[in-house]
Amino acid sequence: MGKDDVISETVASYDITAEQYTEEWFDRGLDDHLARFAEMLPQGGCVLDVGGGHGRDSLALALMGFDMFLIDLSTRLMAAGRRRGVAVSMAQADLRFMPFRDACFDGLWACASLVHLPRADMAPALREMARVTAPGGVLFLSMRTGRGSGWECLQGGLRRFYTYCSGDEVIGCLTESGWDPLSWQEDPPHWFSVLSRRKEIP
Ligand SMILES: C[S@@+](CC[C@H](N)C(=O)[O-])C[C@H]1O[C@@H](n2cnc3c(N)ncnc32)[C@H](O)[C@@H]1O
Repeated sequence: MGKDDVISETVASYDITAEQYTEEWFDRGLDDHLARFAEMLPQGGCVLDVGGGHGRDSLALALMGFDMFLIDLSTRLMAAGRRRGVAVSMAQADLRFMPFRDACFDGLWACASLVHLPRADMAPALREMARVTAPGGVLFLSMRTGRGSGWECLQGGLRRFYTYCSGDEVIGCLTESGWDPLSWQEDPPHWFSVLSRRKEIP
């Protein structure tokens, strides 16, 4: 199976379960992480929600005054968010190849989306994310902890591909891909999150 097939099958699982997934997760906000991220941004700054799904976090950041744009490959998850009142700009796009000019965002919020990339795509995706972020801009990234990668099965024969990382690997990958990791934490039992700044371009 090719790496794009891995992403297509995973996104198809989100499309098929979009309503149920949104029902389960839409009200579970990440208030502490959102507050720390927001503190590092210019007031009213332009923020991209990378793989934002139904847009729960975009809605929270829009309510804090940020100018939000969300991309995701699952049109049905984005539609489910719209039905719940998420009224930010949205587009279907692959986070590995983003349809934005260089340095146009002050911040990127990437919550639990890069977890679905094959490991070989992680550093290129982080470089692509650095490309669209202004120097000094901020990235929130959350990843699944563990080793290796593989499929997690859902009901009905659906499945999602995950890549698991150690905290050291995430920090190393960010550092090599245009980011300065500033603070990070384990969110037990399965998550690791990092706030980074886009390195200045020499
Ligand atoms: C676990 S969900 C997280 C959604 C949202 N960020 C949240 O925290 O609720 C993973 C999301 O990543 C999206 N996704 C996976 N691979 C992607 C890719 N290559 N480009 C854009 N979105 C992707 C999926 O469609 C899904 O919406």
